[in-house]
Amino acid sequence: MTTSDSESSAAPENGPKHVAIIMDGNGRWAQSRGRPRLFGHHAGAKRVRQIVEACPDLGVKYLTIFAFSTENWKRTQVEVAGLMSLFRRYIAKEARALKAEGVRVRFIGDRVRLDKKLVALMDELEVETSENERVHLTIALNYGGRDEVARATKRLAQDVAAGKLDPGEVDEETLPRYLDTYVLPDPDLVIRTSGEARISNFLLWQSAYAEYEFIDTLWPDFSPEIYAGLVEGFGKRDRRLGGVKA
Ligand code: IPE
Ligand code: IPE
Ligand code: MG
Repeated sequence: MTTSDSESSAAPENGPKHVAIIMDGNGRWAQSRGRPRLFGHHAGAKRVRQIVEACPDLGVKYLTIFAFSTENWKRTQVEVAGLMSLFRRYIAKEARALKAEGVRVRFIGDRVRLDKKLVALMDELEVETSENERVHLTIALNYGGRDEVARATKRLAQDVAAGKLDPGEVDEETLPRYLDTYVLPDPDLVIRTSGEARISNFLLWQSAYAEYEFIDTLWPDFSPEIYAGLVEGFGKRDRRLGGVKA
């Protein structure tokens, strides 16, 4: 705690505590260089470490990144297989650094469709970093907001059927306890790179009151400087949350 307090001295006042990023544009970044899409995914993966490392100074305690959506299975078999192998290698390669830097890693999304070896690596990294608290990094992998709400509702219904939950007590506080993100605060700021102004099924419930930044930069070109600028801009926004200014 003491480390994070001193580190956050440069952080903007009223800055976002939880930033979520839709890392988009890897394919176009590669194509504009005449390279295969996977080249862009590799370049994109390399960007992640710098952005994670920038968090403590900016006062960002939680960073959630969208790595693979429930819709991304529609891509070619070559791209999907290449991404899955990239995730496996990324976890194996980055585990040591993440541990040493005090990053607590969590994964959200449905693990059922993922390769068992990949799931084992994900579980292992979660356990190995579970004591860390400098930055909470959440990686959304085979994640879809609608899928998450559907899975949550199924478990909630099972609890009702088992007599553990009274249907009359289900409210806005109850449902999020069944979401994959149950331990995380809601995101304050959602960033999407690559110029698309849509959320593509990311954190639907959780982002109800988030601020959005849609920027043209392609994910492999995203930098700690751009990130710092967006975090700073957030502090200047007038967040009324449905109320009126005094
Ligand atoms: C984002 O980059 C990464 C994933 C969705 C896995 P894209 O692969 O969507 O890149 P573009 O949008 O085609 O440029
Ligand atoms: C969203 O990007 C998913 C991730 C960044 C992992 P996509 O590129 O898949 O989204 P669409 O297809 O443009 O909506
Ligand atoms: Mg895309």
